[in-house]
Parts: sequence; C-alpha cells; structure tokens
Amino acid sequence: METGNGNFNLNSSTQLIVEDQGAFSEEVAFFQSMMTQAIGQNLSEADGKNVIEIRKIEASENPESYHLKITPDKVTLEAGDAEGVFYGLITLRQLLPSSMESGEVSDEINLPELEIKDQPQYEWRAMHLDVSRHFFSMDYLRRYVDLLSLYKLNKLHLHLTDDQGWRIEIKKYPELTEQGAWRTFNSQDSICIDKSKEDPRFALEPKHIEMRDGTPYYGGFYTQDELREFVSYAQTKHVEIIPEIDMPGHMMAAIAIYPELACNGEAAWGDLFSTPLCPVNEEVYTFVENVLTEVMDIFPSKYIHIGADEVEKKTWEESVAANKFMKENGMQSADELQSYFVNRVSAFLQKNGKEVVVWDDAMAGGIDSNLKVMYWRNWVAGVPDKAVQNGNEVILAPGDPFYFSTPNSKLFDIYNKPLLGSKFPEELRHKIKGLQACLWTETIPSEALADAMLFPNVLALAERAWSSESSQDWNSFKTRLKNQLPRLDQLGVKYEYNPTTKLIPFMNVDTDGQRIGITLESEISQPTIYYTTDGTQPTSESYLYKGEFFVTGSATIVAAVFLEGKITDPILTKQVDYHLAIGKPVEYRKSWNKSYPAGDAGSMTDGYRGGESYNDGRWQGFTSDFDVTVDMEKETTLNSFSATFMQVAGPGVFMPGFLEVSISTDGETFETVLRIDNDVAATEKEKVLKDFKGSLEGKQARYVKVFAPNVQKGFLFVDELVIN
Ligand code: ACM
Repeated sequence: METGNGNFNLNSSTQLIVEDQGAFSEEVAFFQSMMTQAIGQNLSEADGKNVIEIRKIEASENPESYHLKITPDKVTLEAGDAEGVFYGLITLRQLLPSSMESGEVSDEINLPELEIKDQPQYEWRAMHLDVSRHFFSMDYLRRYVDLLSLYKLNKLHLHLTDDQGWRIEIKKYPELTEQGAWRTFNSQDSICIDKSKEDPRFALEPKHIEMRDGTPYYGGFYTQDELREFVSYAQTKHVEIIPEIDMPGHMMAAIAIYPELACNGEAAWGDLFSTPLCPVNEEVYTFVENVLTEVMDIFPSKYIHIGADEVEKKTWEESVAANKFMKENGMQSADELQSYFVNRVSAFLQKNGKEVVVWDDAMAGGIDSNLKVMYWRNWVAGVPDKAVQNGNEVILAPGDPFYFSTPNSKLFDIYNKPLLGSKFPEELRHKIKGLQACLWTETIPSEALADAMLFPNVLALAERAWSSESSQDWNSFKTRLKNQLPRLDQLGVKYEYNPTTKLIPFMNVDTDGQRIGITLESEISQPTIYYTTDGTQPTSESYLYKGEFFVTGSATIVAAVFLEGKITDPILTKQVDYHLAIGKPVEYRKSWNKSYPAGDAGSMTDGYRGGESYNDGRWQGFTSDFDVTVDMEKETTLNSFSATFMQVAGPGVFMPGFLEVSISTDGETFETVLRIDNDVAATEKEKVLKDFKGSLEGKQARYVKVFAPNVQKGFLFVDELVIN
C-alpha cells in the first residue's frame, strides 16, 4: 500500500462505471447496497461528477487479487475475477466510516488517496463452527458469514453432526433429525446452566428448547432448503460452506437410532469416545453413502469433511467380524481398519468429484495422499511434517492457538505463535493450503458467548491468513485492531477484548556473543515496562524496557507493566542463564516421549527455558525415567547444577522421586555428588515448577550424569540442565 495526501469525495453525484457488467453483477449489487448504507442511495451508472470505476482485467494467477487506486479524481478497482473485485470492495468498505454499518447515512465521505495491490497468502482462510454440541440459528450463521467476509475469510467449516446432535435434514433417514436433533439436557448443558448463574451468556437459548410432556428438550436442525439458501447467500459473500459429517466416530446421534451400525450393535460409550460405525459392515457404507449423496446435493463446495478424529476402536478390536476381515486383508491393527474406512468413503466422494478433508488422527493407519489433512493435535510432534511428506495438503488448525473455544487461545498467540515445527521441510511449504480456527461449542450455548469467543480473535486469524508473513506486524496489528472495534460495535458484535498487562518473554540465545537476548511482548499497545535482573521487584527507578536487552551469565529478570507510574499485576519472573553447558551434547540412555521432543537432543542445553506450558516446544517429556549425561567436552570446574521440572497432576505430569547428579572425568567411573529429594506431593492439584538444584562444590569433571526416576509412572517434563 502506498498513501497520498489527497482525498476522493464520495457523494450522491459520484458515478459508478462498470466496464464488464455481466462478469461482476453480484459484486456490483453488493457494492450498491454498501453505497445505500453509506450515502443513502445507489450510485448512478449513467452520469456523475466523479467516478468509481470497476474494471475487469486479464485473469491473474491468483483470482483473489485486486488493484485499488484512489486519487482525488477517481477510484479504480481492477481485478481479473469476481473474488478479486469482491475483496477490493471489502477494502473500500473498511475505508468507509464504521457508522455506515448500523445504517447511519453520510452526505459525503472522503476516501484517502492510496494505491493497494493485494492478494492473500493462503487460499484456505477459514473459521469453523460446531452446531452440534449447541445449535445456532440460520440468522446467526448468515451474520457469521457477513463478518467472516468483512475480514476476507473465505471458508466456513460447519461441524453438522456429532454425538450430541444431528443438525442436517436427511430425507432418506428422517429419524436422524426427528430424534437425533433433540436431547434432554446433557452434562454439558448442566455445566452451562450452572455457569449462567454468574454469566448470563452461558444460559441455553430458549429458542432451541422445546417442552415435551413437561420435559425440556434441547435441539434443532437445518432443513435442506434452509441450507441451500444459506449456501447461495454465502456464495454472494465468497464464503464456501464446507460441511462435515464426522465419521466413523462422533456418530452417537445416529448410532443411538441405528445401533446395528456399531460392531457390537450397542449405542454405548467407550473409555474415552463414543462407539464408532463398524467398518466391516456393508450396511454402514450404504448408510454413509446415502447420507453423503444428500449432503453433496445440498453443498456445491469442492470439499467434504468426513472427520475421522477420536475414534475409539475397542468395539472393532473385540469384533469377530472385524478380526476376520483384518486377517483376510493382512491388516495388523485397528488403525488400518480406520484407514480402510476413510479410503473407502473418500473414494466414493472423489468419484463424485469432491475433495475430502480429514482431521489428522486419520493418518494413524496411513492415508491416501489425495486427502486434505486438517492439523489440530498440536501436542503430537511433527503432524504437518509427516502429512506433507506423505504428499497431503495440510490446513493448519492447531488447537493451541486456533481453538478459540479454549482459554489457551490468546490474541498474542493467535497472531504470533509458530504453527510449524523447526524441522518442517521448507521445500514443501506450498503444501500448506491455509489456516483455520475452530469454535467448539460444548460450553458455548449462546450467540452472545460465541461472539465473545470469536471476536476480535477472528481478526488476528484473518490477518495471519491473508497478509504475507513479511508484512505481519504485531505492534501495528494491536494499534489497528483498536480502530476495528467501533465497526464491530456498530455491527452489534458482542466481542470480548480485554488486553492484559501480562508480559510474554522471548529469548534469543546468541552463542557467538555468549549471551541471551530478551524481548518482552504484551497485548496492550506501547506499554511502559520496568525490569530488574537481580530478582527484586521493579520500580519506576529500575531499567526502562526499550527493546531487546542481553543477559550474560545468570539473571533473574523481574518485569512488569507500569500504568500511571504504578506497577500492575501480573509481575513476570524469568530465570535466564547463559551457562557452561549451553551447546554441549547430551546423551540419552532413555529417549523422550515421541509426542514431546522439544528440540530433540539439543533442547536440554540450548539456553531456552520452557515457559508456562509443557506444550510450548521447550519442555521435553518422558514416560520413562530421566537418565542423561551431559558432555562438557573438557574438564571443567563445576560449581552448581539446576534442572527444572513441571508438575500438572490433572493430565498426569509429575515430579520425579528425586534427582541425582554424578560426575566423571572419563565417562566410565562416576561419583555421585548431589541428590535432591522431591518435596512436591503428587496430590498437589496446582501447577508447580521446581528447580532441583544444588552445589557441585567446585569439583573438576567432564561428564555430568543426571538421573531422575519416574516414580508416578506418568509424564516427567524437564527443561534446561543449567550447569555453572
Ligand atoms: C477435534 O477437535 N476432535 C477435531
């Protein structure tokens, strides 16, 4: 974008010239309705004093690209395709006063002189909505599409079926909605009802509750006619509606009606997830194909999502028929049965001209390279890497930070958090189709709460998906975001935007300079930050943060945002050590758990300490004992040792029973020099970080062996072996 100093005056005598009417008729209609909202009338297409011209140019490689030029005399919008024209018009809309969104008409509007050449980074820029766990009205869906298109998102993934409700009319199986769309209040509803005492946004929407013989039933569904109309509406906003029918798991709404579709004929729950469809029962394929035939008839979308996440395979493993089938077909595991199911259903859809999307769990037993993989399990190492190496295209929807329904999903992370691991093969970058965030609605029963979870997060996603990486800038985004809030207000969006003064530390280990650079980020714009490096609480006399600063040796950094000269909570404490073991090799006698490799073998001595979450790619996870040796590469005077462990008892992350340090000059004979017992109870519910640290008494040695037994047989999470 380049800006000038002049303005184009848009008013009732501005003329609209469209060279090639036929091609862009829907976009022109959209523009005229924008004009009616902004200046109270359509622009004349016959005459006028100043001109807005929409020109079709030769189709470009990217149909979503456009070129917008505003000069004091003329506005010109050029694009090769309808999508590009639409996004140029959306940019114009964002330049109009936000008051137009609520119908406030202006006599004249000054548009700033500028030139924009624009195109998206990714072709898949999507939001998702789970309408099964709680139901959302057609009016809400339409408004959702309006809002997505306002920020140039172009896909809406509708999670139409799940254990808790079937939301799409299927003419061949009317029971799916007659029965499957309705439920008596479930445990998630109870949680919502309980929470609604504190926050009315958790109340179930009365419009989705029906009384039957004195019992309240929750539910609802969309008729095929409603969905068709919705799809056409979304097309005018260039939003593709992608339906998901989740299978073979997450199917309880259907299996409760047709239990014969499960291998054991029972509509029951397994240990973790619901009983899935039986992959060796031909009736299942008849059912699935009948349902998908109607789905394809409603949704012209190029893509159909068939789920394939979280399948509990116990009923398959226990089924005589399934075992016989596996044996006959040389299958070793139930995962391969899942692949058989996915491939068979995919082949049916592909034969009908569709492309198939699956959640990444489907990869377990191997998948066809034609499938589009939707990556969500950010805690499983290397999922996108494996998918692209298998030839699949990938949509990045990692739960952290892209599940907007979880409290982990913070604006800063949505905008900034790396989505691919450091080992992702760059030469396969083109296999990344785009980005998607999801809204799962187990405990989001109302439109107001959905708004609050979605906005303004959607704007961060949108910028990340559209703008080139080099033009993304968090500090600029924070400032520009504030200018969008009045528009959301005018649109009646019940967003929740409470930027906190919490500081987010980043380290940059500089091995050449033997120092660690520290930067501090926050969600508020241009914060005033003071810090100390000696562990004391900062005051307005302490160091003023002006950008990256460096630590040599060890420092306990304490930092906080100051508002009107006063320190604010929370106060950040961060231990930083440029220590002797940085960059030194570590030998593992027992490997880390594959799901939590951090940076593999280098990560215990890389200087980067793990942060608040064991998922942050710094903490290494072990389901065995922790048993390693650091090679200092030469005889070294050893003064002190420290290793930090994390306990989060809920998900099974515990402290080791003790930690023992032994040292050696030859790598063969070791002398135990330090033993620290654990004093954190396994019953402790809160997250605890404990430094197992002590003196090494200035002894000389080359090898430092560290042993910490996994006495709880859960996970050990450890980071940074600090040796000085
Ligand atoms: C998922 O969150 N189960 C895809």
